[in-house]
Amino acid sequence: MIDDRMCEAINNQINAELLSAYIYYSMAQWFESQDLPGMAQWMYAQTQEEMFHADRFARYVNGRGGRVLLQAIDAPPTDWDSPQAVFQHALEHEQWVTGNINNLMDLAIEINDHASKNFLMWYVNEQVEEEDNVGSVLAQLKRIGDSSNALYMLDKELGARSFSPPAAEEEK
Ligand code: FEO
Repeated sequence: MIDDRMCEAINNQINAELLSAYIYYSMAQWFESQDLPGMAQWMYAQTQEEMFHADRFARYVNGRGGRVLLQAIDAPPTDWDSPQAVFQHALEHEQWVTGNINNLMDLAIEINDHASKNFLMWYVNEQVEEEDNVGSVLAQLKRIGDSSNALYMLDKELGARSFSPPAAEEEK
């Protein structure tokens, strides 16, 4: 049976993951409006990844006899000044999520919840990848500056991204 405090904290994190999905979906709509379909696709894939993160938490809570109670999701921002501003925002958002995951791990350690520690380690590693992925697009956008040709090429490259959920053994 999952500890009440951990259950509540994970419920809050499910909300944070769904908020992340909502923000990235909004970013995808902004890229659509700017005729940057590759960056929109990148954000659609990111949206699916966040839905997967939320679902993985929910399955864990249910598997340990807890109750998932969904909460209201805040409205996302809808406008940004540039592609670089979008990815800067995405990076700051991922850094915030990393802080949340670290707080969850701190709680698991404090209450000696070994199952949750093991479960949360996947997210600790995932956040390293999340920040790295967003950070590398941001670095490319900074390098590109005002070159519309380079932006077009990067958009094409980012459009190749798709999301497939990790195999069960990689998820552990
Ligand atoms: Fe679910 Fe992007 O962290």
